[in-house]
Amino acid sequence: MAGRMIQRFRPYFKYLQPHRGLLSFAILCGILAGVASGFGLPYMVKKVFPVIFAKDALPLTPWELTKVTLWIPAVFLVRGVATYLNTYFIQLVGTQVLETIRLDFFRKLQVLPLSFFQKNSTGDLLSRGLADANQLQVTLTTVANEIVRSPASLIGSIGIVAWIAYEEQGVALVLVTLAVVPLSVLPIRYVGKKLIKRAGQIQAELGGVTSIFSENLSATKEVRAFNLEERELARFGRASQTLIRAQMKFVKYEKALTPLIEIISAVGIAFTLLYAYKVHLSQETFITLITALYASYEPIKKLGSLNNELKRGLGALDRLEEVLQTHVAIVDSPDARPLGRAHGALTFENVSFSYQAGEIVLNQVSVQIPAGTVCALVGPSGAGKSTFANLVPRFFDPVGGRVLLDGHDLHSLRLADLRRNIAIVSQDPVLFNDTIYENLLIARPEATREELEAAARAAYAHEFILSFPAGYDTVVGERGARLSGGQKQRLALARAFLRNAPILILDEATSALDSDSEAAIQAALKQLVVGKTVLIIAHRFSTIRDATKIIVFDAGEIAAIGSHAELYAANPLYRSLYDRQTASA
Ligand SMILES: Nc1ncnc2c1ncn2[C@@H]1O[C@H](COP(=O)(O)OP(=O)(O)O)[C@@H](O)[C@H]1O
Ligand SMILES: [Mg+2]
Repeated sequence: MAGRMIQRFRPYFKYLQPHRGLLSFAILCGILAGVASGFGLPYMVKKVFPVIFAKDALPLTPWELTKVTLWIPAVFLVRGVATYLNTYFIQLVGTQVLETIRLDFFRKLQVLPLSFFQKNSTGDLLSRGLADANQLQVTLTTVANEIVRSPASLIGSIGIVAWIAYEEQGVALVLVTLAVVPLSVLPIRYVGKKLIKRAGQIQAELGGVTSIFSENLSATKEVRAFNLEERELARFGRASQTLIRAQMKFVKYEKALTPLIEIISAVGIAFTLLYAYKVHLSQETFITLITALYASYEPIKKLGSLNNELKRGLGALDRLEEVLQTHVAIVDSPDARPLGRAHGALTFENVSFSYQAGEIVLNQVSVQIPAGTVCALVGPSGAGKSTFANLVPRFFDPVGGRVLLDGHDLHSLRLADLRRNIAIVSQDPVLFNDTIYENLLIARPEATREELEAAARAAYAHEFILSFPAGYDTVVGERGARLSGGQKQRLALARAFLRNAPILILDEATSALDSDSEAAIQAALKQLVVGKTVLIIAHRFSTIRDATKIIVFDAGEIAAIGSHAELYAANPLYRSLYDRQTASA
């Protein structure tokens, strides 16, 4: 059973590979510590007690006395130093392994498709990346350690029992006392079966608690605005209760193990006593035997909990593997070609897309957007405009048809090269918790300070940046929390200026601007779009009217393509959208 479980961990022992030197040393210390416990302690009793408590022997010289009593600190010294070195180095390897596992997990999160993050909550992923990785580390190191230390200790103590029993009273006693050893394995197996179910459950419930926690932290304003404090507290309380119940079920079985083994071993000791009485066993021999027996139950217990440890580790492993083995759909194909600066001609050929099977969001969309065209996407909310734009940087891949850039299927291009050719400004730009300068620089890391400030000026951001005491060195807070929506959008525009990519996607990029900055930004945008292929989704028709090409989306299909004048004359949907907007303005 344990063997099969260890097989499951096989691929992960590769994490121990780079540390095999240290690990071998730690394991050697473990074997020494095991032998010192299992064999050393009873052997010490056997050596010391008969000499000290001998009834009718000659008095000992001081030297003989010292030699005998020194056995005690000597055995404990060896055991102590070996145990210390063993646990210290196992921990050292363990933390390094944990780092590798966490990095692998984090690396995977960087490349997983966006759809993955819509299916999995942040809190659950946090708990997998932190708690489960931690559990896996504990399991790997405990297993690597105990799998040699405990057998060494067990063999040592069984060896000394056998030796004494053989010397003193023949082999019969050996069999009686050893009969208990296989018996103690019974509760271990029974409890183990109960534990495997609970282990995965605990990690899953922990994920639930973390989910609520992180969701709550990201909605602090909503909680106060809607008076949700009580509701959130109740929700968190329930999840946390469920977690506690799952944990207690685990504890119920896990903690039963030690008492069960001890009760069984007490039966063993009772039998040995009976036998000792019958054969008039000497007191010293008996004490040595008990010490040896006791020393043998320790490794049995350890091996038993090792089984549980493996099960807990398996629970964590399952949850980590769900992420680590998620198929990364959007990757470079093996023959992907490099791409320098693109011209920016986009072609959609019969492109269909759906987020979930059976729910069509884009249906057989075909359109050509020549390089340098300013192209506006118009249509009712939910018509598929953002989805259409998101196919260009391959945030999602179409389920049918293909998208081409300068005549090349996007699949044939290197992903990083493709994305380098695109600048995106979205409705809700995200800033990193860093300085404004660093936040702008990510758009083009090799840009000079002058270029960066010029971009900020062009986006009408320079002035408000300088109004902060720290200027460009102002730290913006998590997700840019210390800035207004309009300021964030202007920084996002500054990024687009700095990036100067041939393809520009503006998805409601001016929606958060107040009417003061709106006019200035419109002027900035006119400058930004020159010579670029632009996909612009805007809620204000003032921006749209000037577009060279307007695509009207309706329920996932292209209803019409044309200029403002053409569409206003010929397309009822466009006309009604336009009239409604201008009437309300
Ligand atoms: N991440 C998503 N998962 C599932 N459905 C989505 C997702 N994003 C958008 N949708 C759905 O796809 C349709 C088109 O959305 P979208 O492209 O955002 O429309 P628009 O930008 O035109 O308002 C809508 O019905 C929306 O509910
Ligand atoms: Mg949209």
